[in-house]
Amino acid sequence: MHCLGLKYFNKNQVESILEKAVYFKSTKNYTKSLQDAIVVNMFFENSTRTKTSFEIAALKLGARVVNFDYTKSSLQKGENWIDTITNLNAMHPDFFVTRHAYSGFAYYISQFTQANVINAGDGTNEHPSQALLDLMTMYEHKKDIENLKVCIIGDIINSRVARSHMYLAKMFNWDLSFYGPSTFLPQNIDIKIEKDLKQAISNKDFVILLRIQLERKSGVNIPSLDEYNKFFGIKEPIGAYIMHPGPVNRDVELDSTVYIDRNVLITKQVENGVFVRMAIFDFCMSN
Ligand code: CP
Repeated sequence: MHCLGLKYFNKNQVESILEKAVYFKSTKNYTKSLQDAIVVNMFFENSTRTKTSFEIAALKLGARVVNFDYTKSSLQKGENWIDTITNLNAMHPDFFVTRHAYSGFAYYISQFTQANVINAGDGTNEHPSQALLDLMTMYEHKKDIENLKVCIIGDIINSRVARSHMYLAKMFNWDLSFYGPSTFLPQNIDIKIEKDLKQAISNKDFVILLRIQLERKSGVNIPSLDEYNKFFGIKEPIGAYIMHPGPVNRDVELDSTVYIDRNVLITKQVENGVFVRMAIFDFCMSN
């Protein structure tokens, strides 16, 4: 089974992955369910957390990992995508883990392979493993993941993380709201937009901060990073738990002095990423 996005998952499936991730973390009882499986990591965008944790997750489950380096591949000689995937598929890998700037990339790849495809982030579409590791972190801190009050602050319109969270919000009946500069907010969607920062962070279980995606030129949609920090940055601890998918632009979305506050769950999210990605591999392999 593929993991192309939470759009394609139902609540039972998400709960099953969460349960397995919690089991892996609490028992350290790894089933080696990927024993001798071959996982091909295909990252066409930079990554620290996602790429490394998918690799560690695969190794913990007994798989072997091949890191496809597109800069040294025959794509550079002009080979097209379909031929590239068809040829890699002929080597019979068990998984492709893909990240690409194109929305829909993982789905596209899945049309040309018998391997399970896992979406590690595709353009502005989805980042399902990030949302699931966020969910695990929420579960650890609140236990009940139904009816949570969650505000996402930042570059919503370009965020694949926000989109995956919108599917979780529907599944678990969250009171989800957005806040950010108007140039970062989607129009005509049925999600509450907070009026100011005070309202955005008040009476929330979790506040998720999103990164200004400087590599995607998101900075051109705001006057300056300082201006963003002034109106949308978190500059002191708040009542809610703070999450951020990373990498954090320090002193833009979140001030360095707050980064170390006990309610900031960023390194917990990263830790849980390994267990959630193990659970995703396990789920795809056994379905
Ligand atoms: N959250 C996230 O996707 O981080 P990386 O880009 O470092 O993988």
